[in-house]
Amino acid sequence: MPESYRVAILGATGAVGTELLELLENRNFPLSELKLLASPRSAGRTLPFKGEQLLVEPVGEGSFENVDIVLASAGGSTSKQWAHKAVAAGAVVIDNSSAFRMDSQVPLVVPEVNPEAAANHRGIIANPNCTTILMSVAVWPLHKVQPVQRIVAATYQSASGAGARAMEEMKEQAQAILDGKTPKTEIFPYPLAFNLFPHNSPLNDQGYCEEEMKMVNETRKIFGAPALRVSATCVRVPVLRAHSEAINLEFGQPFSVAKAREILSEAPGVELVEDWQANYFPMPFEATGRDDVLVGRIRQDISHPCGLELWLSGDQIRKGAALNAVQIAELLVAKNLLKPAVALGANS
Ligand code: A2P
Repeated sequence: MPESYRVAILGATGAVGTELLELLENRNFPLSELKLLASPRSAGRTLPFKGEQLLVEPVGEGSFENVDIVLASAGGSTSKQWAHKAVAAGAVVIDNSSAFRMDSQVPLVVPEVNPEAAANHRGIIANPNCTTILMSVAVWPLHKVQPVQRIVAATYQSASGAGARAMEEMKEQAQAILDGKTPKTEIFPYPLAFNLFPHNSPLNDQGYCEEEMKMVNETRKIFGAPALRVSATCVRVPVLRAHSEAINLEFGQPFSVAKAREILSEAPGVELVEDWQANYFPMPFEATGRDDVLVGRIRQDISHPCGLELWLSGDQIRKGAALNAVQIAELLVAKNLLKPAVALGANS
């Protein structure tokens, strides 16, 4: 295998795309070439990388020739349009959209949880939903020691989950409200500044929104636990870029708080943040820009002898999206997994 790789970022101008650029630079990913792709709207724009300005190209036929790895973060329809073409051109696609996550032929990978799943890829590997990644990193180390039977989560999701334009919209709304004006809404259905609302993804006939069902189905797939009971309430809150989650875990037997704390203090990708004297626990402000998921407020559930409560904050753009994707790319390189095990669409 070559020692450096030709990488393309599809959606390079977006919130996750720009973070991907920064991570590839700061983590010194072995690159021989970097291609920045976005929509025709961004043609001619440049983005900084390693002291140079790289030109953004509109994605098109031929964009994926001579590319080893595509990091895609341009939305589900764009991924559906281009991912198979990129694979046909010889690239492995690490896709941040929801387009392929539940496809049984596509591994859904959180490197701290199920790195082995990456080996079965057929050209596409899916990056899970941000809230699911953050929850998985915190819950998996406990689940490995004693299987969790039921997870009940409530999320506090930042504007960044809806993209760079949504973050700008929230800032403009805050300014408008402070100026006594009516806030404008284009990306979000309602004003987010000084407000919150249940996640506005489509609702199913049981009353769960798509985001909540992603937490249910993707966690089951990542954990390899199809019967795991998961329920979630997802809420958008006026925070710029880190998500928080309140998580209730039910085990088959009591799980001591001391043991949970010990496990999480050593778990990869987790930083335990707890100062009970100072009432100091994970906060989105402090999670912003950090690689680790901050976990704390671990306590016995007073309503259930086998229950634990915990609280986390994690950078949605970083571990919730871009960092997880770059870690998958690093895993493919380290384990020599760039060649698909079986071509996508093959029957075996
Ligand atoms: P562009 O900036 O040209 O619109 P975010 O999630 O922050 O909103 O970013 C979405 C990213 O996906 C941007 O880089 C955006 O590019 C890109 N994108 C959106 N639609 C398309 C498309 N049809 N083809 C290629 N890139 C797209």
